[in-house]
Amino acid sequence: MGNHPLHDRGGGCHHSDLGLNLLKIAILKEEASGERRVAGTPETVKKFIALGATMAVESGAGATSSISDAAYADVGAAVGSRADAIKDADIILGVQGPDPVSLTGVKPGAWIVAGLNPFGERARVDAYAALGVDALAMEFMPRITRAQSMDILSSQSNLSGYKAVLDAAGEYGRAFPMMMTAAGTVSAARVFIMGVGVAGLQAIATARRLGAQVSATDVRSATREQIESLGAKAIFVENVEGIQGEGAGGYATEMSDEYKAAQAALVSSHIAKQDIVITTALIPGRPAPRLISDAQIATMRPGSVIVDLAVEQGGNVEGAVAGEVVERHGVKIVGHKNVPSRLSADTSALFSRNLFNFLSAFWDKEAGRPVLPDEDEITQAIRLTKDGKVVNARLL
Ligand code: NAI
Repeated sequence: MGNHPLHDRGGGCHHSDLGLNLLKIAILKEEASGERRVAGTPETVKKFIALGATMAVESGAGATSSISDAAYADVGAAVGSRADAIKDADIILGVQGPDPVSLTGVKPGAWIVAGLNPFGERARVDAYAALGVDALAMEFMPRITRAQSMDILSSQSNLSGYKAVLDAAGEYGRAFPMMMTAAGTVSAARVFIMGVGVAGLQAIATARRLGAQVSATDVRSATREQIESLGAKAIFVENVEGIQGEGAGGYATEMSDEYKAAQAALVSSHIAKQDIVITTALIPGRPAPRLISDAQIATMRPGSVIVDLAVEQGGNVEGAVAGEVVERHGVKIVGHKNVPSRLSADTSALFSRNLFNFLSAFWDKEAGRPVLPDEDEITQAIRLTKDGKVVNARLL
């Protein structure tokens, strides 16, 4: 890769002056079925090169995000085979974790930086340790101000919340906005959002833009104000206390049986009047909470649509099937897998920036590469493997 003109910058480049090898960063083509995103774009390739790295892109990596091989080559990346990209790479970027088998020949001590699904793909983490690579799980990024621009969960959930509303609109046989026509009035859709984290907030905003009448609920009381500030109605359990403040890192926990019963009663009375329900509720490290039962679905008007964004974590909705649109009691239940991948051009751009923001924040100019201090909160949160061992506290 060192023969590219951009890397022969002579006097300007400290490391070539010293005859040191430039840091090599590889962007691989995703292997998982249905994964359309890519972990680097021409924009981030350019920025890494400006920091002094040399970039290798596996041919076809950007194709499903509307990025051609030529677009990467134009900004100075070497585009070639997977083996060429991996060979001598110091850092390998992915959206999902690359199959360890496909990494044969990887340099020991190289970093794998991706969404690694550490709980779901535990055996893979062990395989990374055996390869001697440092696996860095971007979804374990702590929710601290300094790391906001590196947070793949937020960047991807945001777009998922938007897409969930469009997916609902696509399945719905009626309109979202109220329309007064010469042939009579079309009434506005009633949309209920359950779980008002990053995805839920974007879903509220999107449904409002489409002209729906929107209501929303969450277990964290801090979300009430956010719901109302977006012009939606807050539907909250009143008689049992929910989670005050922001919870641990802004996340929810499992609720008491008393709370669950009160929430079920509240949802039952509300849901029967809704046309669209979008559920986004998650509890980190646990199965998604069950929020809607089959009996509750039966009370909804035929033609209503439910989108379960938590379907891959066990589902918020009884009867939801991952990867399918099913019908129960005349209600469509949408369970698309990997929703961020459905808007891959935008989600790839944001994901790639998250990776760049992370690596550039730790860039050590002297070393010509990012350096993660062992005692840093971010290092401790995301580092899964080091020196042949699994080192992350959440996996031990
Ligand atoms: P999430 O994806 O883990 O969960 C989605 C939502 O479901 C959450 O709002 C949660 O409270 C809710 N939920 C869980 N159980 C529920 C139940 N039984 N019924 C109803 N709702 C339920 O959460 P997400 O979207 O990742 O973020 C949660 C919060 O984290 C954000 O609203 C924000 O306050 C905070 N955050 C902070 C960041 C930072 O400081 N860097 C970055 C991103 C988020």
